[in-house]
Amino acid sequence: MVRARGRRAAVNQVLACPHCSRALDLTDAGATCANGHSFDRGRGGYLHLLVGGRLSPTVTSGDTPDALAARRRFLTAGHYAPIARALAEAVGIPPGPVLDVGCGEGWYLAQLSHEQAAPGERFGLDVSKAAVQMAARAHPDTQYVVGTAYRLPVLDHSVGAVISVFAPHPFDEFARVLRPGGRWVTATPGPRHLQEMRPVPQGESALKTAERLARRSEPPPEASSAVHVEFTLELSDGDARDLFLMTPIRWQSGARVADAHVEASASATVDVWVSTSEPIAK
Ligand SMILES: C[S@@+](CC[C@H](N)C(=O)[O-])C[C@H]1O[C@@H](n2cnc3c(N)ncnc32)[C@H](O)[C@@H]1O
Ligand SMILES: [Zn+2]
Repeated sequence: MVRARGRRAAVNQVLACPHCSRALDLTDAGATCANGHSFDRGRGGYLHLLVGGRLSPTVTSGDTPDALAARRRFLTAGHYAPIARALAEAVGIPPGPVLDVGCGEGWYLAQLSHEQAAPGERFGLDVSKAAVQMAARAHPDTQYVVGTAYRLPVLDHSVGAVISVFAPHPFDEFARVLRPGGRWVTATPGPRHLQEMRPVPQGESALKTAERLARRSEPPPEASSAVHVEFTLELSDGDARDLFLMTPIRWQSGARVADAHVEASASATVDVWVSTSEPIAK
């Protein structure tokens, strides 16, 4: 038996077979569909539902073990608690299970109350196996899945809320999997997010930079409402280093350039949109 101690069985009628899209029946050992496709559980009970070849290395560049460990340390310390609070408020009491797309190591989903998402009604998905393994070990009341946001292994109209925090947000996929009355909630960077740490990407013109930041001055146009969360973090050297390690800034700028910025900055601006869709029509 592979069931991790304390793991709460996830509800059925949410996950779909990545080969044929039929409902997956979840057991202690794994998951099977009516067409006989089967998937074993990995350690901690996660399911690997990514099919169709290897993803390019750039897709997973943010999930190296040091990035994941840094993110866990930084988030657990509570530096981003105001974002989690705004997210939880936007999620409200959803009409069904909650799915976290690009869940990383699972911190934001774990901040929701049991009233918002009961044990067994929490699903986290990430393309990074390393992130999902880490999440599954830490949060036994959540069903974690390795899969892609762009083709969610999730049944049509099966979840009450989809959240995506600094992660891909294909809204057509979100609309497909949401139940009537359900909503998606995203957290995306605003124009000043981590500006102290963010060097201009090499070779980018001033005009291009201005255009890129202007796009961030509004929440996603698909949102029906949005809350702007802005605050300043005072960071120890260790915190600043973790923040740098866990964000894509590291990959965009080249580690040595950004390292210098980290050492120079004791404070960092957090500027985030927490955006919500209209409820899906009944
Ligand atoms: C910046 S991290 C955010 C992680 C987490 N939501 C948090 O804020 O702590 C972005 C996450 O999106 C995941 N990701 C990237 N492309 C993805 C895809 N196509 N499908 C699912 N997850 C993806 C990455 O593996 C990574 O864990
Ligand atoms: Zn199948």
